[in-house]
Amino acid sequence: MKKLKARGQSVLSPVLGKYFDDFEVAAGRGSYLIDYRGQKYLDFAAGIACNVTGHCHPKVVAAIKNQAEKLLHVCIGVAYYEPYVKLAEELQKIAPMKNAQAFLCQSGTEAVEAAVKLAKYATRKPGIIAFQGGFHGRTLGALSITTSKMKYRDGYAPLLPEVYIAPLDLRVVKGLIESRSIGGLIIEPILGEGGYIEVENSFLKGLRQLCDANGVLLIFDEVQTGIGHTGQWFASQHAGVVPDIITVAKGIASGLPLGACLAGAEIMAKWSPGAHGSTFGGNPVACAAASATLEVIKKEKLLQNAARLGAYLKKNLSELQTQHSELIKAVRGRGLMLGVDLGAGEPVKQIINYCLEKKLVLISTGGDGTVIRFIPPLNVKKTEIDRALAIFADALAHV
Ligand SMILES: Cc1ncc(COP(=O)(O)O)c(C=O)c1O
Repeated sequence: MKKLKARGQSVLSPVLGKYFDDFEVAAGRGSYLIDYRGQKYLDFAAGIACNVTGHCHPKVVAAIKNQAEKLLHVCIGVAYYEPYVKLAEELQKIAPMKNAQAFLCQSGTEAVEAAVKLAKYATRKPGIIAFQGGFHGRTLGALSITTSKMKYRDGYAPLLPEVYIAPLDLRVVKGLIESRSIGGLIIEPILGEGGYIEVENSFLKGLRQLCDANGVLLIFDEVQTGIGHTGQWFASQHAGVVPDIITVAKGIASGLPLGACLAGAEIMAKWSPGAHGSTFGGNPVACAAASATLEVIKKEKLLQNAARLGAYLKKNLSELQTQHSELIKAVRGRGLMLGVDLGAGEPVKQIINYCLEKKLVLISTGGDGTVIRFIPPLNVKKTEIDRALAIFADALAHV
């Protein structure tokens, strides 16, 4: 053991929350993390849904090395460079909206900031509607629309004005849209940090209609759901609803920091040059990693893998629910983005700690941490899923 925890305690801000008390990692390969004693852990947390191609996929690593030797940074404001433009071209191909253009940044919260600013700017209407239980990030703008855990907001008032937090109820949304000056409406197609709660297709369709009828820009926050976790590039594609703006981050660059705010050319044309920006956004190395990630997903048919193995995992988790109905309240989610709701935080902690001892990394989600999430890399193997299921079943039997 390196005792990173002991060293970290005197130099790291205590604000950093941790799922585990004492877990130290030296390396990652494929679906595994490796500690300083060389012990391998099956990683079904994947860096909180970031390592979509597994840890250190050779093609992603090669793209990073290749780019690092050519150009580390220049800023798109200073000069055009290949990796930024190439990635934007590739995002245009997979984005659900027509003629999508990209603003690149470094994280999910920045992608959301960009989306909210774009919605306000393009419509010249100040109001933003978000939903109870949503998570959109930690910067003050993104935090203002985040309610998955109210403690995230404590101590930061006043937050952004003219933000309306609605329940998943179309009548309430209609009332808000018709009585206020609303520029944008933001929702995650599956509430991620809110507990892996799927929003119904009919609800997303209803939002699209309300937005169309009232000149409101519909933003889908696909930071966690996007880049293949649900078996499609974007979770909203299952509902067949096309948003005006989409936010992406997490898995897009297999773990390198990158985010994107995508919108159709007509909307982007309303965002004047200089109205938003970023020094590091769309860093060449991160963009190269992202392009390689998208290529690996296509070549290795990882959307199909996520759909197929996700269905297999869900079926098996549902069988465990039947066997442990006193413990498991629900199994939710889609593809390889699945949540097991235990309805209480304490057993979740016991189970994830037990699984870690047995070399399986699982983390919690949900307002009170009552849900265990399964979000492995998209190239996870069936044998790895079987092993995770066996450890999880053993953990359930021990709680
Ligand atoms: C849906 C969603 N939006 C935004 C964010 C914020 O992303 P980041 O932590 O990269 O800032 C997250 C992070 O969990 C998220 O799940």
